[in-house]
Amino acid sequence: MSEDTTSQSNGFSTRAIRAASTAPVMRQRPNAVPIYQSATFSAEDAGELGDILGDRVPGYAYARIDHPTGAAMASAIAELEGAEAGHPFASGMAAIHAALLASLSAGDHVVATRAIYGSTQALLQRVLARFGIDATFVDPTDLDAVAAAFRVRTRVLYLETISNPTIVVADLERLIGIAHERRVRVIVDNTFASPYLCRPAELGADLVVESCTKWLGGHSDVIAGVVTGGSAAVEQVRRIAVDTGGNIEPFSAFLVLRGIMTLAVRMERHCASALAVARFLETQPGVDRLYYPGLPSHPQYQVAQTRLRAGGGMLAFDLGSRDAAARAIDALRLPPRTASLGSVHTMAVHPPSHTHRQLDDAALAAAGIPPGLVRVSVGLEDVEDLIADFGAALAASGSAVHA
Ligand SMILES: Cc1ncc(COP(=O)(O)O)c(C=O)c1O
Repeated sequence: MSEDTTSQSNGFSTRAIRAASTAPVMRQRPNAVPIYQSATFSAEDAGELGDILGDRVPGYAYARIDHPTGAAMASAIAELEGAEAGHPFASGMAAIHAALLASLSAGDHVVATRAIYGSTQALLQRVLARFGIDATFVDPTDLDAVAAAFRVRTRVLYLETISNPTIVVADLERLIGIAHERRVRVIVDNTFASPYLCRPAELGADLVVESCTKWLGGHSDVIAGVVTGGSAAVEQVRRIAVDTGGNIEPFSAFLVLRGIMTLAVRMERHCASALAVARFLETQPGVDRLYYPGLPSHPQYQVAQTRLRAGGGMLAFDLGSRDAAARAIDALRLPPRTASLGSVHTMAVHPPSHTHRQLDDAALAAAGIPPGLVRVSVGLEDVEDLIADFGAALAASGSAVHA
């Protein structure tokens, strides 16, 4: 800003605007990253502004493109993921959308695992399909089926570290190997795991997406996303973001940064409580099947042992029918009736009617999602209270004989 900031020769409005938009210059660094709530940033001169906007020199010009709070958030997550670079987004879906658009053109083909987040599946099947991008959905535990799904125009293998909602644990190293042998880019949604449990970039993933709305934010108070990966691949994603406009808000980036600082201690508790709740549920008579990667009964227990730091905060169980699942969820006293995960609050959802409502019965069956599935994100409440609540809900809904 020029020298005449508070010059008395200016009129009142000019002085008010100049005075109230002069950021303090200070030598001491704040210990929290400030919320840089500014749509625009001033360069020294027109040439520098052109250079920043033209990506010839680093810097900030316009907050839809980049701002310091978002940049701090993305680089903190890149650091946690073991990746070179990151770019922040207004939501997990904005991040996934940009990662896919940066990797695909009309006529290209995606191999994706069959039980993925409902909106991701809809993005591939309903939105990108309209632009000539085809997708094949495969069981990630059947490596032969994955390999057989590749075509000449396959450009992306899309995986979830722990898949939504059936808690399938992907053998990332082997799946990434299959794709890379064919020079196919691998995008991994690491939302269910968070970088605390798994760092797909270190296993070779080209791009890693996270919905920071979940474990990274952790408190059900922010919608946010991020893409991390190698610098060149993230730069492609950034260019898409510039032209599609899904950048994060500074306040949201601030909340994610605050969440990151306690991610490890929260995850330790989420994992310990989820293990205890899973052990309890596994003994309940109405529970046909329990899916928790930290228990030997999980089909990918060995993969989870080698790829995940712990079992995580997500579990699912099958009560046999849509009605039984709805009755059990309605009988729960502690979890709010809401459809998310990765929060201080325990959340129980019925994927066929909530998170995966976009899938009809045939698509649910093809994705391996049973009609009576209940998916639980275990929160930070006292675990004894949670176990008592699940026990009482199963008993009240007639799903179990209460122990
Ligand atoms: C695995 C997974 N990925 C991505 C998303 C999308 O995240 P957001 O709601 O932040 O757009 C979700 C949302 O539930 C999810 O569960």
